[in-house]
Amino acid sequence: MKHELVLVIDFGGQYNQLIARRVRENNVYCEILPYTTEIEKIKVKNPKGIIFTGGPNSAYLEESPKMSKEIFEIGVPILGICYGDQLMAHLLGGKVQKGDNQTREYGKTKIDYKESPIFEGVTTNQVWMSHTDYISEAPAGFEVTATTANCPVAAMHNVEKKLYGVQFHPEVEHSLDGDKILRNFLYKICEVSGDWTTSSFIDDKIAEIKAKVGDKKALCALSGGVDSSVAAVLMHRAIGDNLTCIFVDHGLLRKNEGRDVENIFREKFSMNLIKVDAEDRFLGKLKGVTEPEAKRKIIGEEFIRVFEEESHKLGRMEFLVQGTIYPDVVESGLGDSATIKSHHNVGGLPEDVDFQEIIEPLRELFKDEVRNIGLELGIEENLIFRHPFPGPGLGIRVIGEVTKEKCDILREADAVYMDELRKAGLYKEIWQAFATLPDVKTVGVMGDERTYAHLVGIRAVASSDGMTSDWYKIPYEVLERISNRIINECEGVNRVVYDITSKPPGTIEWE
Ligand code: XMP
Repeated sequence: MKHELVLVIDFGGQYNQLIARRVRENNVYCEILPYTTEIEKIKVKNPKGIIFTGGPNSAYLEESPKMSKEIFEIGVPILGICYGDQLMAHLLGGKVQKGDNQTREYGKTKIDYKESPIFEGVTTNQVWMSHTDYISEAPAGFEVTATTANCPVAAMHNVEKKLYGVQFHPEVEHSLDGDKILRNFLYKICEVSGDWTTSSFIDDKIAEIKAKVGDKKALCALSGGVDSSVAAVLMHRAIGDNLTCIFVDHGLLRKNEGRDVENIFREKFSMNLIKVDAEDRFLGKLKGVTEPEAKRKIIGEEFIRVFEEESHKLGRMEFLVQGTIYPDVVESGLGDSATIKSHHNVGGLPEDVDFQEIIEPLRELFKDEVRNIGLELGIEENLIFRHPFPGPGLGIRVIGEVTKEKCDILREADAVYMDELRKAGLYKEIWQAFATLPDVKTVGVMGDERTYAHLVGIRAVASSDGMTSDWYKIPYEVLERISNRIINECEGVNRVVYDITSKPPGTIEWE
């Protein structure tokens, strides 16, 4: 079944993916396309509506991102947000003016709404603004539908042509009725029915995979992370025993992780799972290596080698399953973010393995959608809401040379730390938390004895995508319990320190 579609046209704003997620949260499927997309291509996709995003440019400048004004003639409702709103005004003959410190608005702003179908049911008057330029005159045929102290045209519409513009960001939580406004646009203006739901996705995807794979065979590299786990279970629902999963235990996993993966996938879901115990191989290769990038490279290459060896034993497989999700697709296709992510592909798969085709069942989904699908497929919450874990695992959390002894100490400390975060109800609040083991020993005193043992670092960050983050403020009482328990329960540790660095200037991992 083909879902109703709304297109988000990307003009380079920072909230583009957030807009798309908000549309999806309203049960409408949506895709992000660059502003350079040809109008013909847009028409072929037959969208129910289009949203122009914000962006950092000035609509009246020659070199700024534009779209031909033909787009306003194809009869599809359009909502322009921020730059998208200014561009609509500029292209249709309104006036956009260069702003200054007096006219710029940033942050929570009071707004006066007038009547408009997209403001139906709105009861508050706070919106989130982030602009310097402003629209001083709406185009002919448009009515001004909101104003603020600095914005004579904070919103506008042309009801007949189904064109709407807002200077503020309805996708941001601080725009108090933002969700209602987006929902009005989708349901009242674009007249969608809301056919994008978790269960409709699962049913459609299973049918699609069955049609594509038939009774051929597929191989999946299972990492134990959310994306590959959900992809594997979905594939298994569709093709059953024709799916084989390979899970490489490189000895750099968290406590009980290997065992949990076996329990879930082999026992609970009865899937064909090959668990490769490769700890000795990896630790052997890492012996004496201390430089972080060298460690990453070794782990990445060894992973590929192990995976290749195992897959060759299985004979030819026609399909390789990958847990690619929508932000990966958007980021590698549009902005510069692809380069930021490249070093994170450690643990990726070889390009030259003999597969007929790559299959990416989660390619259209945002992370929160992947989680919902996973829950609906019966994967346990603990796995679904697990914090991100880097491919090289403890290899980059044991600072300096990696040894089994150090990994064991770190595994214990990390498990105690996670247990306390869960008990305090903080685990889900935090984007990512983990312990690290710097190559540092310090002096202490325990039971009248001098000790000389390891220092453990604990880190917790708040973030929405891992690109930037704040250090998370764990309450002192919880920190105290964490520190006491780690020192009491983890042999070889006598001191705990708390990392209070944000990113930038720090990175989330220590290596
Ligand atoms: P940094 O440390 O760069 O991390 O701030 C951002 C996010 O990426 C994860 N990370 C990695 N993931 N392979 C991965 O698969 C890697 O080599 C790697 N290095 C960092 C990190 O855990 C955080 O979520």
